[in-house]
Amino acid sequence: MPYNVKTDVLVIGCGIAGAIAALTAADQGARVLVVTGMGDLMEGNTAYAQGGIIYKSPHDSPELLTKDIIRAGAGRCHVPAVELLAEKGPALVKKLLIDKYAIPFDQDEKGRLDFTTEGAHSLSRVIHVADWTGKAIIRSLVSALKTHPGIRILKNTTAVDILTLSHHSRNPGDIYREPMCVGIYALNQKKGWVFPIFAKETILATGGLGQIYLHTTNPRVARGDGIALAYRAGVRLINLEYVQFHPTTLFQEDEKRFLITESLRGEGGILIRRNGERFMDDIHPMGSLAPRDIVARAIQDVMLAHNEPCVYLDVRHLNPDWARVRFPNVYNNCAEYGIDITKKPIPVVPAAHYSCGGIAVDLMGRASLKRLWAVGEVSCTGVHGANRLASASLLEGLVWGYEAGRQSSLNIRRKNDYYFPSIEKWIHEKETVDPALIYQDWLTIKYTMWNYVGLTRTSKRLERALHILRELQQEVERFYKRGALSDGLIGLRNGVQTAMAVLFAAQQNRETRGCHFRVD
Ligand code: SIN
Repeated sequence: MPYNVKTDVLVIGCGIAGAIAALTAADQGARVLVVTGMGDLMEGNTAYAQGGIIYKSPHDSPELLTKDIIRAGAGRCHVPAVELLAEKGPALVKKLLIDKYAIPFDQDEKGRLDFTTEGAHSLSRVIHVADWTGKAIIRSLVSALKTHPGIRILKNTTAVDILTLSHHSRNPGDIYREPMCVGIYALNQKKGWVFPIFAKETILATGGLGQIYLHTTNPRVARGDGIALAYRAGVRLINLEYVQFHPTTLFQEDEKRFLITESLRGEGGILIRRNGERFMDDIHPMGSLAPRDIVARAIQDVMLAHNEPCVYLDVRHLNPDWARVRFPNVYNNCAEYGIDITKKPIPVVPAAHYSCGGIAVDLMGRASLKRLWAVGEVSCTGVHGANRLASASLLEGLVWGYEAGRQSSLNIRRKNDYYFPSIEKWIHEKETVDPALIYQDWLTIKYTMWNYVGLTRTSKRLERALHILRELQQEVERFYKRGALSDGLIGLRNGVQTAMAVLFAAQQNRETRGCHFRVD
């Protein structure tokens, strides 16, 4: 075996939630190992967040924020989790992001933080760095990770499976012990080796699952890895049917979807049809700033009713000089396609954006398996209920990342009897896996999820998806068992399992609510 690694706290993933968990645990004296499948630590979902992060503006209060989150969550939020976020979140933004990691949030000419708004917020409370807030945050956190003496980083390393006593211990008696996580099997992508990483406490922070859909705002790495790892280890998953679709991504045929931040609508952008009709005004009192699920479905309905490939976001009435400075990311990306947003409406369509469900965790981020934690989008704290309030996810990642980092390192200080079993050796298979299979199987997952488990769902569509995905999963499992392991193969296996988990959740829940919209 090439490596045999042991650590106090193992963090898998390094977006805002994973990075904060790792930094907090290391600050408290734990030896931390961060593992990521990426070669570039900036490539995760956090870097793609444009709008901003919820803070506390002068007329705001935890009660008001709680109310807005619960209203957006369509009656399915876990109220204690929402209250924890609303109470602790803004203080942690100040302590960590503003004071400790010095994120350069935009300020007005008097040096006061600039607050913006997004859909379903009852006042402006979102702080931002132009329209590349996530990038600014993660840049600073990654640099802190790289220089912290208590943190080691393993890049290009993919989590293969969670190690548990019941699945991997060579001691037959361990099957009778309380189930627990003792680390992971990991793949060194460059060498093709699989090796165990043992950890006293393991924190999953692998991000979202947008890649199981044909159109998504998410990066390549958001393929549901953590959900599939947890599923195979028998960890409790909840609310997976609530996949949020962002209403506005740039529409260019055959191009990857690029997020058009909701704060453009927060600053006055209006959704229109090709003929200029403001179609949201009749649909919701908040018009273009209605909750996301309502806007996304309205766009889809308009497109279908009029056989139009997209709708448009009109920001031509905003001051052009201001718009260029406030939204440089959107401005430049649209300009690449010949769209000057100060002169032309932006063609937009919805795309899969955020998983409100995930690994069920408590107020500290503890999952149902002992010694396992989950933070950020892979987890489900219950904060988002059936639909997420915009800009709440960075805040959730910050709060639960901090809690999990703190509590896991406290556990390590309190306990000195962590059990590590001897485990089965990994058997390396050799059969070459044809990349064409991986490519085509991903297309099957993406089209199936988009057409049958997407914005609107029916029993018939879900049934059809089940037939397709069940067969595909068996096929993938067959060549996974024989194939030489690669990140691509692991990702495909995870992708199809995560798609199945979302599908099962959608089938079981017959009630239309929030992002889960059943037309039958
Ligand atoms: C956006 O900028 O529209 C995305 C923000 C979010 O999803 O919270």
